[in-house]
Parts: sequence; structure tokens; C-alpha cells
Amino acid sequence: MLGLPALSKESRSRRRLALSAAAKVNLVLEILGKRADGYHELVTVMQAVDLSDRLILEEAADLELAVSAEGVPGDATNLALRAATALREASGTDRGVHITLDKRVPVAAGLGGGSSDAAAVLLGLNRLWGLRWPAARLAEVATTLGMDVPFFLRGGGALGTGRGEELKPVPAGAVALVLVTPPFGSSTAEAYGRVTPSMYTDGSRAQTMAGLLRTRQAARVAASLYNGLEAAVAPLHPEIARMKAALLAAGALGVAMSGSGPTVFGVARSFEHARQIRARLTRASWRCWAVRTLGGPAVRVRTIGSMDRMMGRGQAARRGTLDPVFGGSNPPAPTTIRRGRR
Ligand code: C5P
Repeated sequence: MLGLPALSKESRSRRRLALSAAAKVNLVLEILGKRADGYHELVTVMQAVDLSDRLILEEAADLELAVSAEGVPGDATNLALRAATALREASGTDRGVHITLDKRVPVAAGLGGGSSDAAAVLLGLNRLWGLRWPAARLAEVATTLGMDVPFFLRGGGALGTGRGEELKPVPAGAVALVLVTPPFGSSTAEAYGRVTPSMYTDGSRAQTMAGLLRTRQAARVAASLYNGLEAAVAPLHPEIARMKAALLAAGALGVAMSGSGPTVFGVARSFEHARQIRARLTRASWRCWAVRTLGGPAVRVRTIGSMDRMMGRGQAARRGTLDPVFGGSNPPAPTTIRRGRR
């Protein structure tokens, strides 16, 4: 057929999915106490935002991963590959997948990027491998990967209790935020390891925020931000206080650290206001984004179909040169491939 890219029969028949995996912020994170299992009892309001990693899942014999960003592990410690391994074991399938991961969400930043990638892999493989598992069954596997992962199976806004994995959806209006990430990461385990009983609160701030989110009133949301982990993490990183002060000076209505940090975020009156605030943040080493909260799913899945192949989009997306979900150009092609056969 004239004008079509030359694809082998095998390549044409191999199924591919393109996914986007959104980050989150914790609008409130309260620590209620320490549990007998070593984790901390939380009440948190998690909210998906429109800053997303991109993934391509393609049928393969093995479990394989190619990552686009430097400093992101491409081996079996990567949560995306761990998700594929966990689902393969739990389902008993002998099928594989080649995962291409294009990182845009900063790593170890308190934004749940790795957890969102893991949720995307679970949702994508549920489809690619034809498992047809209900969400509750996927959530059981998600919890074994990390307490943030179940949230990303759904997205939107949610009130999290227990270790953060017991979720109640919170209908949320759109709020504009500015995210600021410094050039270093923060360890979640270390952050929780520094928590003392003086940092415990009663969960009422999270309940208040859950009620407020429905109202879309940015000023009230801004006034109710809270993160109990800040007291544990901020003394380690003076940059956190500097980023918060810079956001407030640039016009943010309120500021807080997200998760175990070090990312901080500010609430804006509108998306245009968020862009203005971001433009006023001039420190070169900070990465800044104006984002909107997402009312809908954190993970979006699309089959790369015959039209994409005719346009060459499937191949370009796999190479990482085309945005698989929204169109446009991507950062550089993946650099690492590791095999994860067990
Ligand atoms: O769930 P995740 O694997 O991200 O957690 C990393 C570490 O953070 C845990 O091993 C635990 O030490 C700590 N943590 C905690 N209480 C929670 C969640 C995490 O102490 N609710």
C-alpha cells in the first residue's frame, strides 16, 4: 500500500497502548500516630494534577523497561517494572511487556510520579493482557507496591486514611497551582523516620479540606493547606522554606510541601495567575510548573491503532519522539533497557 511506513507483519499485529500518568499533591497530610506494623496512620487529601509521565506498553515475551530520563532506575527496582512483575505473579500469566517510560514528573519529589507510573502499568496491563480484573483487585496489588499507588488507579481528589491507601473520592473543582521542585530528592522512609509525636494531629484539617474542595474557592483551599511531614523534612532542606517564601512573594494565596517533599506548591486564583507566579520565580535551579487539579482519572489509556501506524505515530511514540496521548514532541529517546524475566 503506497505511502504507508514499512512495518513487519509481526510489528503490525503487536498491540500497543499509550498512557499518561499524572502526578499528585497532598493538599493536607496529617499524621495521627504510629501503627503496630511500623507505618504511620494518616489522614490526607490527595489531588491529581495535570503534570504527567508518558508510557508506551507493547506486547513482548519478557518484562522490559526503557526509561528516558537520567537518574531514573531502569532496572528491577523501578516501580513501573515492579508493577508488571507483581501483576504477572498475581495473575499467573506468562505474558510480557515492553514498557517505554518518558519521565516528566520529577523523581523522589513528593509528587507520586513513580506510584502513578506503577498504577498506569497495572491499568494498562489489565487491558493488554486481557485480565479484566475489577479495580478492587488491582488495588490489592497496588498496595503491595506503595501506599500512594491505589490513589492513582482512580485519580481526581480523594481522602486517604489508614496508611494512605484507604480512599474515599472527594468531588473536586478545578484549582490552579504552581509546583516548585529543587534539584534534589527526598526519601519517604527517611521523612517518616524523623516523625515525632509532637507532629501528630487529629485529622480535622483533612476533613475540612475535603469539604472545601467541592467549593472551588481557591482562597479557602489556600488557607487550609497543611503537611505534618514538613516539620520532619524542612529542617533537612533549608531550600523548602526559601521556595515557600518565594511562592508567597510571587503572589501565591497559600503554600505547602507535597507528600514527603521536597516539592512545594502554591495555590493561585486562576491558571493565568499561576502562570504569572511561575514567571516570577527566577531561581535557575528550581523547576516550576503551572498546573490545574484534575477532577478525572490520573491515568489515561489509549490504544495505538491502525490510524496511528499509518501516520507513523506508533513507531514515533515508541521511540519517544511523539507525545503518545496528546500529540506534540517529546524529550529524547529512551536510553536504558533491562530485562526482567523471572
Ligand atoms: O508506601 P511507600 O512504599 O511509599 O512508603 C515508603 C516508606 O514510608 C515506608 O516503608 C514507611 O517507612 C514510610 N511510611 C509510613 N507511613 C505511611 C506511609 C509510608 O511510615 N503511611
